Amino acid sequence: MTEPLNAAAAADPLAGPALAALAASLAPEITALRRDLHAHPEIRYQEERTGEAVARQLAAAGLEVRRGLAQTGLLGVLHGARPGGRCVALRADLDALPITEETGLPYASTRPGAMHACGHDGHTATLVGVARLLAALRDRFAGTVKFLFQPAEEGGHGGLRMCEAGVLADPPVDAIFALHSWPFLPAGSIGVRYGPMMAGTDTFAVDVIGQGGHAAYPHRCVDPILIACRIVDALQSIVSREVGPADSAVITVGKIAGGTAVNIIPNRARLEGTLRSLREPTRQAALASIRRIAEGVATAHRGRAEVVVTPGYPPTVNHDAATELVRAAAVATVGPERVSVLDEPSMGGEDFAYYLERVPGCMFRLGVARGPIDHEPTLHTTRFDFNDAALEPGMRVLAASALRMLADGLPDPKKKF
Ligand code: NI
Repeated sequence: MTEPLNAAAAADPLAGPALAALAASLAPEITALRRDLHAHPEIRYQEERTGEAVARQLAAAGLEVRRGLAQTGLLGVLHGARPGGRCVALRADLDALPITEETGLPYASTRPGAMHACGHDGHTATLVGVARLLAALRDRFAGTVKFLFQPAEEGGHGGLRMCEAGVLADPPVDAIFALHSWPFLPAGSIGVRYGPMMAGTDTFAVDVIGQGGHAAYPHRCVDPILIACRIVDALQSIVSREVGPADSAVITVGKIAGGTAVNIIPNRARLEGTLRSLREPTRQAALASIRRIAEGVATAHRGRAEVVVTPGYPPTVNHDAATELVRAAAVATVGPERVSVLDEPSMGGEDFAYYLERVPGCMFRLGVARGPIDHEPTLHTTRFDFNDAALEPGMRVLAASALRMLADGLPDPKKKF
């Protein structure tokens, strides 16, 4: 008769031999899956073959599988054999990026213009491994584990659509966890961060409308080029004067266009930029300021500005108690020397934000560096490749986090971490 997993037993069986042995025995097959996914990347909302490969393994492990969520996403559900219990969700992303691989690896992408350059092949394979691992342990826990394989993390808002498809309900999810490969940490190391983890990523476009004419008669014109320049300059005062010094944001105007010849003042000019922010109130305030300043500066110079904001992902903000749970699970699983608390968030974006807006949870970083950090190909480049050495620790930390959550729930949020 096996022992139930409870608070007292948590540290041992979760960190201990059962989990480690299972992860080690699964590693060769999960490595093969990861390389197969890498060779056959599918960009957002085209993840048919990837979903099929995942569904087959989940079904073989005895999970209930629901397909066609958010178009090409899927959900695997695993019930513990013991009665009652909580519900924990684990999430991976299925999609590749629209770039052409240049690694020269034997399992390199077979599809020009598509590549797993963000490690989602590794995230997906790891989560399949966790599903198989926890399925093998299902007589040892109570509760439900939901395995979320979402499409279109790369700019397609797949996470939002999964939430809208109801994956966090019935039964309601008590906490959600995910990992992301990270080339700036040694392979198999874990990085956690309390609070803001990744930035909100919005884009904006400003059309400046003036009155064109001869360059030698500016007084008979309204110069949209001058107005556009003033707007670019004035937008920089948002971060320096309106965002708190201990908070952070970025406003970059990356594109500016207008005019056709040196001796003509054009009718219009256009600028486009991105806002990165770490907190939702900061994000909303900065977006409102972009609009106010662009319109106000244009009016001050007798012109007009039309501002269009395209919402991106919200800031990804980890919940403290869920982060503490992951940190403790990681320390118990891979050892304190391989776990760090990260000083800084990344100003990149991540649609795991949508889940964290709805339920407590944590995204942590899984190191994939092969050698000196300075020489590692970074994410979203043609030479990046997820490191298979990270699969086993990734599986163990995700599985241990889920089991701790099922056994003990989240740590008391009133405690200071
Ligand atoms: Ni990614």
